[in-house]
Amino acid sequence: MNYRKFGNTDLTVSEIGFGAWAIGGTANVGGVEIGWGPSDDEVSVQALNAALDAGINFYDTADFYGLGHSEKLIGEVFGNRKDVLIATKVGQKVGTDGKPTVDYSKEYLIEACENSLRRLKRDVIDYYQLHVARVQHLEDGACIEAMETLKEQGKIRYWGSSLITFSPSPEAEFLMQKHQGNGFQLVLNLINQLAVPEMENAGSQGYGIIARMPLQFGLLSGKITPESTFSQDDHRSYRLTPELIRNTLEILNSKVLPMAKAYETSLSALALSFILGFKEISTVIPGIRTPRHVELNTQGLVQLSKADHQYLRELYQSDWQQIMQAMQAKG
Ligand SMILES: NC(=O)c1ccc[n+]([C@@H]2O[C@H](COP(=O)([O-])OP(=O)(O)OC[C@H]3O[C@@H](n4cnc5c(N)ncnc54)[C@H](OP(=O)(O)O)[C@@H]3O)[C@@H](O)[C@H]2O)c1
Repeated sequence: MNYRKFGNTDLTVSEIGFGAWAIGGTANVGGVEIGWGPSDDEVSVQALNAALDAGINFYDTADFYGLGHSEKLIGEVFGNRKDVLIATKVGQKVGTDGKPTVDYSKEYLIEACENSLRRLKRDVIDYYQLHVARVQHLEDGACIEAMETLKEQGKIRYWGSSLITFSPSPEAEFLMQKHQGNGFQLVLNLINQLAVPEMENAGSQGYGIIARMPLQFGLLSGKITPESTFSQDDHRSYRLTPELIRNTLEILNSKVLPMAKAYETSLSALALSFILGFKEISTVIPGIRTPRHVELNTQGLVQLSKADHQYLRELYQSDWQQIMQAMQAKG
C-alpha cells in the first residue's frame, strides 16, 4: 500500500481507503431506501479487518449510513486506535415527519458529533465532513462555526465538505475563497470527471482530496451485466437500467478493456489507477463490503503512462458524456 499526505494536514492516508456506506446495511427512511440492501455484519467485520491487514488506514463513513450502523461497526472493530483514521459525515438526518432531511444548525452538528464519537468509540474524529451542505448552509455560517468549535474542543482534528455529485463547484468555490476547511470529497471516475477543475484548484491550495464512487456503483468493474438484478432496497435497482449498463459495457469493452489487458490488470484496478494518476488525489475510496473487495481493490494497481492517462481523460469528452447525463437524470 502506498500512502499520501492529506493536503496540508498532518494526516498520512492510504491511497486506497474504505468506503463504508454499504456496511451500514438496509435502511428505509420514510419510504426512501438509503442503503445498498442487506449486509452481513460478520462479513463486514471481516472486511474491516482485511482492510487493515492490507494497509488501509482511511475509513470513510457517515452517521446516516444505516442510521449509525456503519459507524457502530467501525467503532467495534477499531475503537480508539490511533493508526486508523476515521472520516465521518454529518448533516443528514431523519426529520420529525420520518422523512430524510438536512440540518446544518450549530446545535445539531455539535450534538451529532457527540453521537458519532460514542458510536465510533473514539475521543476524536480525524476528518469530519459536511455531508451534502449547499452554499446557503455555508453562507448561513452556523455549520462552519460548529466545525471550528468542535476543532477547538479537540473533538475533531480536521474538517471539510463532501461535494454534490453533479455540481461540485459552488460549495468548493465558497470554502476555497474563504480558506475554510481542510479537504473535499468529490466524485471522480472514468465516467464522471466533472470535478477535475475543482480538484486541481483545491489541490494547489493545500486541500486534501477524497475521490468517491471510483467504480460508479461497481459498474466500471465490468462485472455488472444487463441481466444483473438488484434487490428493491438497493438504490442501484432504480439507478442502473439494463440500457445504461449495456451502453457502459460497450464503451468499457471496446475502449478501456484493451488498456487493462496491456497493463495486465483488471478493469476495476485500472479504474482506480486512473484516479490515482491525478497528483491532487489523497485517497480513493471504493465501496467495500467483503474481504474479496479489499483484495480486488488493493491489487493490480498500476502507474499509467501520461499518454494513457490523457487518453482516458479524452474518453470522458468523446464517449462517456451520454452515460453521465443518463446517470444525472437518475439523480
Ligand atoms: N455524499 C457523499 O458523501 C457520498 C456519496 C456516495 C458515496 N460516498 C462514499 O464513497 C464510498 C464509495 O462510493 P460507492 O460505494 O457509491 O461506489 P463505488 O466504490 O463506485 O461502488 C461500490 C460497489 O461496487 C462494488 N465493488 C467494489 N469493489 C469492487 C471491485 N473491485 N470489483 C467489482 N465490484 C466492486 C460493490 O458492489 P457489490 O457489493 O454489489 O459487489 C460495492 O458496493 C461509499 O462507501 C461512501 O463511503 C459518499
